[in-house]
Amino acid sequence: MTNTLYAGLMSGTSTDGIDAVLADFSSPGAPRILSQASLSMPDTLRQQFLSLNDAGDNELDRAALAANALALQYAEAVRRLLMAAGAQASDVAAIGAHGQTVRHRPDAGYSIQINAPARLAELTGIDVIADFRSRDIAAGGQGAPLVPAFHEAIFQARHARAVLNLGGIANITLLSPDQPVRGFDTGPANVLLDLWCQEKTGAPYDENGRWAASGRAGRELLDTMMESEPWFALPPPKSTGRDHFNRQWLARRLRDRAARGMRDNDIQATLRDLTARTIAQAIDTHAPHTQDVVVCGGGALNGDLMAALARDLRRPIRPSSAVGVPVRTVEALAFAWLARAHLMGCKAGLPSVTGARHPTLLGARYPA
Ligand SMILES: Nc1ncnc2c1ncn2[C@@H]1O[C@H](COP(=O)(O)OP(=O)(O)OP(=O)(O)O)[C@@H](O)[C@H]1O
Ligand SMILES: [Mg+2]
Repeated sequence: MTNTLYAGLMSGTSTDGIDAVLADFSSPGAPRILSQASLSMPDTLRQQFLSLNDAGDNELDRAALAANALALQYAEAVRRLLMAAGAQASDVAAIGAHGQTVRHRPDAGYSIQINAPARLAELTGIDVIADFRSRDIAAGGQGAPLVPAFHEAIFQARHARAVLNLGGIANITLLSPDQPVRGFDTGPANVLLDLWCQEKTGAPYDENGRWAASGRAGRELLDTMMESEPWFALPPPKSTGRDHFNRQWLARRLRDRAARGMRDNDIQATLRDLTARTIAQAIDTHAPHTQDVVVCGGGALNGDLMAALARDLRRPIRPSSAVGVPVRTVEALAFAWLARAHLMGCKAGLPSVTGARHPTLLGARYPA
């Protein structure tokens, strides 16, 4: 009998850690989650990744060493998954390992995920599927987002629905019973909130959005941020990352007259509203018939951000946990699903999402 277990490993733009999941895909419906694990990124490795987001000395060597260090973290995540599920490496068909994005430049023809899949295969004794983005980019696509095909498989409803992932960047999947799936990035979800919170409070993120909730959003600054950024109004397909929404982006906006006299927590509240408003605008513009929104990713644990979204979206919103998948496992599960799609020869790169010229088989296999 062929193996039906797959592991998914996701470390996203927030660079906060690794979300891992082990799932059984033996029944035709939704995969059954056997175990999950979240490892925080060791500080030194996080710093290495963040510095690799910018041009710097001896990048190739630093990238290779960071990749090897990440493989050790990924292997530890897999070890925990197997132990928690009482499973063996030989039970697992493959690991889908996304890697850590340090540059995302589809328009220049590339997106770089730091990863050491051969090393991970050696460390775990399990086949690894990696490098999920470059085939779609080679076919003229954005190489992102890649999760809509998976969102469609597990969250499809009888009505028009949006699936919203709140990672560092926000991406939406637009599902409708009578249209091909669509999906694109809408802009920052947590990346600017995290940056500002780290700079002003030292905390890695604003727990439950409490700090933002203590401030008052500046309407003028919010308008300025929206109007000064042409990317928000670009039509899909589109994707983005830290290359664009980063410390420099924020610093430039905060030099505006509209930011004068605002308290630090007022700025945080404004950034929260920027996330909510750009998402709501994207859905109103591109999928006005959307009836409900299912939210996943770490930002779904931020009650204050969820409240701002409910206000701006004017539609029922609920965390993915309410429809059976914990918010921190959706993206990791997507990479387990994509690894399986690769082994089955199923082309999960969707032109209706990424703008590629044709569907593509995503990922490359590194045998154990
Ligand atoms: N309890 C919480 N309260 C507020 N924010 C939270 C909480 N837990 C997580 N977050 C936010 O979620 C972020 C991490 O989310 P997640 O891991 O989904 O993003 P990511 O790593 O960028 O993934 P991806 O790129 O795949 O979407 C944290 O950086 C933080 O901003
Ligand atoms: Mg993360």
